[in-house]
Amino acid sequence: MELNRIICGDVLEEMKRIPSNSIHLAITSPPYNVGKNYDNHNDKMNYKEYLDWLMNVWRETKRVLVSGGRFAMNIAPTGIKDFTPIHHDFTNQLREINMIFRTEIIWYKQTMLKRTAWGSFKSPANPHIVPSWEYILIFSKDKPGLQGDEKNADISKEEFMKFTDGVWYISPETQRNGHPAPFPEELIYRLIKFYSYKGNAVLDMFGGTGTVAVVSHKTGRNFIHIDISSEYCKTAQQRLDKIKNQHKINQYA
Ligand SMILES: C[S@@+](CC[C@H](N)C(=O)[O-])C[C@H]1O[C@@H](n2cnc3c(N)ncnc32)[C@H](O)[C@@H]1O
Repeated sequence: MELNRIICGDVLEEMKRIPSNSIHLAITSPPYNVGKNYDNHNDKMNYKEYLDWLMNVWRETKRVLVSGGRFAMNIAPTGIKDFTPIHHDFTNQLREINMIFRTEIIWYKQTMLKRTAWGSFKSPANPHIVPSWEYILIFSKDKPGLQGDEKNADISKEEFMKFTDGVWYISPETQRNGHPAPFPEELIYRLIKFYSYKGNAVLDMFGGTGTVAVVSHKTGRNFIHIDISSEYCKTAQQRLDKIKNQHKINQYA
């Protein structure tokens, strides 16, 4: 499959075309099934149907990863009153297919100022914890180590030391580009630098408006971006074209 392309299509249909053992790092955030207003997806499926659908995506993800390849999944428990631990359910699914669960990074979003749901305010009757964080669950295929040429390890000492602290303070993305849940670039930058070598192939199978594609390009990695929405794919392509043009201008400046 040709790399560095924005592919507009259904995740399972398009993943079929990716050769086995060809991706070094998959990074994604699947739809959370909380009724978000996506362009072309029902985000309120029956929970069992939702889990079964994603189990097929995890199986495909394992197939396309190289041995030692990583899967970084951004997910958070949903619901405050009706707490739904989808992060546990996904972890169990991935362990069921023998992916190695390496760690969980806590993405602390620092959004507590905007809180509204207190439950029983100032009383132990039924107080609520507000989900001010999300997880990045990290899995490996077959073995923990990823082979690569050390001359393509491009993380600095300062970055390495900072990123090994498992709580990452990163504000949510403010430039939404018409999407309800885009990744902040900083989050993807850290995952790419920490878990892959320059020249590696990075996949986002629910790519949205293309943050993984854009940061892969900026950091000298190859990417495959898949999303079902032609609107989001158009935005992703525009973001990519913009940074490619900037790159050309800088080269000739
Ligand atoms: C949580 S969002 C990902 C956002 C992305 N991380 C970003 O930075 O823009 C989930 C994405 O999954 C896409 N999606 C939903 N169902 C899909 C399917 N069957 N195949 C491919 N993409 C799908 C949605 O269009 C949505 O953009």
